[in-house]
Amino acid sequence: MAASKKKISKKPIKKSTNTPKKKSTTNKKQSPVVITSSKVVKIYKSTNVEVTALDGVDISIKEGEMVAIMGPSGCGKTTLLNCLSGLDSINSGSIKLQNMELESLSDDKLSEFRAKNMGFVFQSYNLLPVLTTVENVELPLLVSGTSAKEARKKSEAKLDDVGLLEWSQHLPGELSGGQRQRVTLARALVNEPAIVWADEPTGNLDSTNEVEIMDLLTDLNKKNNQTFVIVTHSNYVGGRANRIIKMKDGKVVK
Ligand SMILES: Nc1ncnc2c1ncn2[C@@H]1O[C@H](COP(=O)(O)OP(=O)(O)OP(=O)(O)O)[C@@H](O)[C@H]1O
Ligand SMILES: [Mg+2]
Repeated sequence: MAASKKKISKKPIKKSTNTPKKKSTTNKKQSPVVITSSKVVKIYKSTNVEVTALDGVDISIKEGEMVAIMGPSGCGKTTLLNCLSGLDSINSGSIKLQNMELESLSDDKLSEFRAKNMGFVFQSYNLLPVLTTVENVELPLLVSGTSAKEARKKSEAKLDDVGLLEWSQHLPGELSGGQRQRVTLARALVNEPAIVWADEPTGNLDSTNEVEIMDLLTDLNKKNNQTFVIVTHSNYVGGRANRIIKMKDGKVVK
């Protein structure tokens, strides 16, 4: 049993037959803008200190783009992702997703919009240790009202995409760091969300796993025209994106 598991773990991630290493050739210039931020300011206040984490951020991202957000530690990358996805509020400015002003949505509407249209690959969105791999992946589907049978089918298909179908009945604690990261990806992508937010998706991975994860993301980006916004410190990941947005001290820099 143990030997067969070992063998399965070495199975490479399924890749599409077309060349995954090439950058997307879709003409993004023609695509509609799906994410806009205008003069966004985010200030964190604690007892006697104020930190301006975002200091007038203007960005615009088109449908189907794969964008990397890069910059030194503490420059505001995670804060920007949290604000753009509506997980955190802003102090001033505006954010539009698919032409909808985030501020105008009630908490319920925002949660619904998020469940239907967004996928998250955040380190803080950990897998639930008491649920099996497949149960973790199907959670977003069950939350957004998919039937149990359909959710299981889609989740197994997504686990197959990331090369982990044989591990569907295992608990996250029985998987390696790279495998867990792929389960997180499967969970983020199982809804086929229009926008995928990822905060250092390859942060804890070796270079082989990093390449595999990026092959997978690039494939999905091309096949489904999903928009990816990826925060990363990795030059490799930045190089695989269509475009890099550089940040410094809470601002976008050229
Ligand atoms: N919840 C919070 N409360 C107070 N200050 C915060 C909070 N979250 C972030 N900050 C501050 O805001 C600034 C930006 O932090 P952020 O986490 O966005 O940086 P980052 O670019 O993601 O860094 P890293 O690359 O290290 O993850 C930092 O100065 C940080 O200390
Ligand atoms: Mg961060």
